[in-house]
Amino acid sequence: MEKLRWNPKWGSLVGLLAVGFFLVFFFVGASSQKTPVRKILRSTNHRELNKSLRVQLLTKEPRREVIIDNGIVQVTLSSPDGFVTGIKYHGIDNVLENKNEDDNRGYWDVVWYEPGKGGGINIDKLKCTDFRVITVNEDQVEVSFTRKWNIKLRGSQAPLNVDKRFIVRRGSSGFYYYAILEREEGWPDVDMDQIRIVFKLQQDMFHVMAIKDGSQRTMPMMEDRESGQPLAYPEAVLLTNPINQQLRGEVDDKYQYSLENKDNRVHGWMTTDDTPVGFWMITPSDEFRSGGPIKQDLTSHVGPTVLNMFTSTHYGGKDINTEYRNGEAWKKVLGPSFVYLNSGSSTDDNLALWEDAKNQMFIQVKSWPYNFIKSEDFPKHYQRGSVFGQLKVHDRYMNKTLMGADSAYVGLAAPGDVGSFQIETKGYQFWTKANKKGYFSITNVREGNYSLYAWVPGVIGDFKYKYNVTVTPGSRINLEVMVYEPPRNGPTLWEIGIPDRSAAEFFIPDAYPTLMNHLYTSNPDKFRQYGLWERYTDLYRNEDLKYTIGVSDYTRDWFFAQVTRNIGNKTYEATTWQIIFKLKNWKNTGNYKLQLALAAATQSDVQVRFNNANTADSSLFSTGLIGKDNAIARHGIHGLYKLYSIDVPSDQLQRGSNILYLTQSRHIGPFQGVMYDYIRLEGPPGT
Ligand SMILES: *[C@@H]1O[C@H](CO)[C@@H](O)[C@H](O)[C@H]1NC(C)=O
Ligand SMILES: *[C@@H]1O[C@H](CO)[C@@H](O)[C@H](O)[C@H]1NC(C)=O
Ligand SMILES: *[C@@H]1O[C@H](CO)[C@@H](O)[C@H](O)[C@H]1NC(C)=O
Repeated sequence: MEKLRWNPKWGSLVGLLAVGFFLVFFFVGASSQKTPVRKILRSTNHRELNKSLRVQLLTKEPRREVIIDNGIVQVTLSSPDGFVTGIKYHGIDNVLENKNEDDNRGYWDVVWYEPGKGGGINIDKLKCTDFRVITVNEDQVEVSFTRKWNIKLRGSQAPLNVDKRFIVRRGSSGFYYYAILEREEGWPDVDMDQIRIVFKLQQDMFHVMAIKDGSQRTMPMMEDRESGQPLAYPEAVLLTNPINQQLRGEVDDKYQYSLENKDNRVHGWMTTDDTPVGFWMITPSDEFRSGGPIKQDLTSHVGPTVLNMFTSTHYGGKDINTEYRNGEAWKKVLGPSFVYLNSGSSTDDNLALWEDAKNQMFIQVKSWPYNFIKSEDFPKHYQRGSVFGQLKVHDRYMNKTLMGADSAYVGLAAPGDVGSFQIETKGYQFWTKANKKGYFSITNVREGNYSLYAWVPGVIGDFKYKYNVTVTPGSRINLEVMVYEPPRNGPTLWEIGIPDRSAAEFFIPDAYPTLMNHLYTSNPDKFRQYGLWERYTDLYRNEDLKYTIGVSDYTRDWFFAQVTRNIGNKTYEATTWQIIFKLKNWKNTGNYKLQLALAAATQSDVQVRFNNANTADSSLFSTGLIGKDNAIARHGIHGLYKLYSIDVPSDQLQRGSNILYLTQSRHIGPFQGVMYDYIRLEGPPGT
């Protein structure tokens, strides 16, 4: 802690800002404001304070810094920009990459553009103009970096008022951060496609990354990507000459480390020396994330980079609502989240650090919503409400009686259409999982008006409660028993897959041995391997997939994605899959119904024909051009969920053998296609 003791050489500093004076003054409880700064600083010597908190505001042109130290971590922030430039921990002077500029170590950024301006996409690192101490006492320091937008800044900055907060608490091995972003009414139109915080760690120290149980690995270096060979989807690189030669021949792609919101609570990096150190991003709540519990996003990746993604178009594309129009006002608190640092003794291995980080995550989750956040925009526990209820499912062809919505996902999000939560980014979302009987409780909900959305694993479609739910501070709302009636026309004649919004149950091919990420060699998330779309052409070179009901097995015979076929020379063909089935009791009275649920779609058009292979003929049904979720190229096993309930007039079918042809007619490139979630043919009602 040498660095923080008063050093006579600092006499050459321009000076200590007045606020620094008061801080220190306040802190040591000195009796006179006139006490010379120099003396107070000396008395804030670390040892004397016995691990209490200290804040110093130093001005050392051209660099101004705010330093917060609790004796465990010391966080340095550039002022008034509000970039995290240093994190000192466990004898490491800075766990962040010192070689990077101040604005490229620990920073927020917003990807934005003004629609229709043709000005391209901008990245705004939310560099602030004002610094303020929010609170300082012996338990906690909270500081704020702000900036105000005005019309003169149009074009050069995202139209946002910004308040970036950082908190260091006594005895805590890390720090908290959050941001309050705001648009005032009448401000120009803007698209904000991505909002995140980024930390870049020391490249020479952090080599092992962990994103979930069983998903830890020694990672390549940034230079390895530069020396490697970009693959067909250029964000993926084949490591041809990595520094760690054991990684030679592997693929690196940050999208291989994506997680669903509900699973993205802790991830980070570790050093590999004798006393390893870990740096972890711990996010105890999803309330400020967008798109609901199964929206996927990036976590950590080569850099070493640690992200917290608050909104993005990943795995959804521009269908995810990031547009602010007609002077729409907006305000949102992103975070708080916790950056946690831990260290092991020489006998500790990296697994122990991961286990400890996970344990710390559970501690943070338990203390949610944090009671020490000073912004009034972040409501305390007692300012929030709870919503309780039971959801049942009525599907008389599954069960004559009402069934509890077993393990249903139930959530509150901005009022909107059925299923709209998955493209919603502007408000807060509160999700829970119901028990076997469909009972649920959603706690710690912010005040506001919501729609209640739900879906039930094993059941198609989306539920939305018919009334808005208004949550007020302290309210405990018991809703009536709600009944979800999923789309259903008649009895199931056949079905393929499990209605769970994912294609994971289908056939996932092995990756090319020359394009492996060894993390996924024997890992249930095999779908994160690179290049699986190309395997379709290997397996179905001359003839498209044919699936025979009663004979085929979807875990082996249903390729996880209906992609294009590569016929060489950068040319791709549309594909038509066949489902061959028999109808013993065909009836020409009453209509049949095809329930077609998609787990993902990219620039696709799915056409449905019965007993007619001629794709030149008009189809019974076509989705039209749909999907921008890019889940195929980015190794998601799903993107956005879409359900089509398609009427099938009985004269489309016949007694005996029938064939359903599914054509994906768009074929510009290799990443185009759909993933099916579930397909079901239903007979006429009452049969
Ligand atoms: C919720 O909606 C009601 C009725 O439309 C309205 O009076 C109230 O102000 C709204 N509350 C919030 C927090 O938006
Ligand atoms: C729910 O709230 C939204 C937005 O405030 C409003 O447009 C809608 O009419 C409300 N719906 C009902 C059923 O009250
Ligand atoms: C490949 O495609 C280009 C452009 O369409 C064409 O000019 C060329 O003849 C094709 N080559 C082969 C071998 O088919």
